[in-house]
Amino acid sequence: MVLRKTLLAAAGSDRLRSAASGSRLTRGVVDRFVAGEHAEDAVRTAEELAEQGVASSVDHLGEDTGHPEQAEDITAGYLHLLRLLERAGLTSSAEVSVKPTAIGLALGDEGPQLAAGNLARICAAAAAAGTTVTVDMENERYVGPTLRLVASLRGDYPWLGCVLQSYLRRTDGDTAAMASEPGARVRLCKGAYASDPATGYPQRRDVDAAYVRQLRRLMDSETYPMVATHDPRLIDIATTLARRFGRTYDGFEYQMLYGARPEEQRRLADLGARVRVYVPYGRDWYGYLVRRMAERPANAAFAARTVLRR
Ligand code: FDA
Repeated sequence: MVLRKTLLAAAGSDRLRSAASGSRLTRGVVDRFVAGEHAEDAVRTAEELAEQGVASSVDHLGEDTGHPEQAEDITAGYLHLLRLLERAGLTSSAEVSVKPTAIGLALGDEGPQLAAGNLARICAAAAAAGTTVTVDMENERYVGPTLRLVASLRGDYPWLGCVLQSYLRRTDGDTAAMASEPGARVRLCKGAYASDPATGYPQRRDVDAAYVRQLRRLMDSETYPMVATHDPRLIDIATTLARRFGRTYDGFEYQMLYGARPEEQRRLADLGARVRVYVPYGRDWYGYLVRRMAERPANAAFAARTVLRR
């Protein structure tokens, strides 16, 4: 718990981010969870996954951009990525995931409008390429603005997906709202950010119970649930709920992160289930990687071993 809090605080530190980025000591750790620095690396990974019957959602790493030019660079990065995915013939299996603060959401009063404009460009490019977009969910303070951002574009892009995080107390309400939108693509995860006890569940068991409640609500609706977890118990529950609500394997999907439980990804895919892996690439891997260490002591231990070996 203390390690998790410390790591989550470190994940948001600009000073540590700039010290770590590009550091050779961290490369082994980065390689395990990040497809590479360039869009071409992510496309190669998406290709390898597709060969195993596994779909992907590719994320151009970056968050909390401080300038509109940076948000523009990231948006341009997505447009480039979508062109590459289309050229590689991968858009039936590979989509993209976008962090709202990477495309400008946090840039003051103008942020929401800037992010909406950038996301609209990414959605238009995805539509032209024949694929979809899912919007990640970040820190609690961005949940409301992110849901509004997604709602503002869903009229034009009904397939625009979004993430809900079970660790937040508000998520039962957000799930109910989503459940009333037929066809909404909802990626349900536990949540990778620090929580305030007033607004989030401090205990893991309460987060897990909320996840089951919310997943049940989504399965019992006309949404398309995306079950984003590596937790074996929750994966079994998802399978049971899907059956109970008459969903076949094309009525929902399992999702995992690149580098996490690859055998399980293949096992589910071999059963005929839809499986999608979140594939991050880029240089700005610091925050993403530290959150992976915070959620799983084994990941932090792996990082420590890699550093000590050098
Ligand atoms: P958790 O970490 O609680 O682990 C539960 C159990 O699962 C463990 O005890 C272990 O048994 C097993 N397990 C977990 N990881 C394992 C591994 N690597 N190998 C073997 N066993 C393992 N978060 C967020 O806040 N916003 C977002 O937008 C997203 N997006 C997102 C997309 C996708 C596709 C995924 C899979 C996850 C996210 N997340 C996220 C991250 C998410 O919120 C969460 O932090 C992680 O998925 C970790 O939680 P788990 O549900 O996997 O279980």
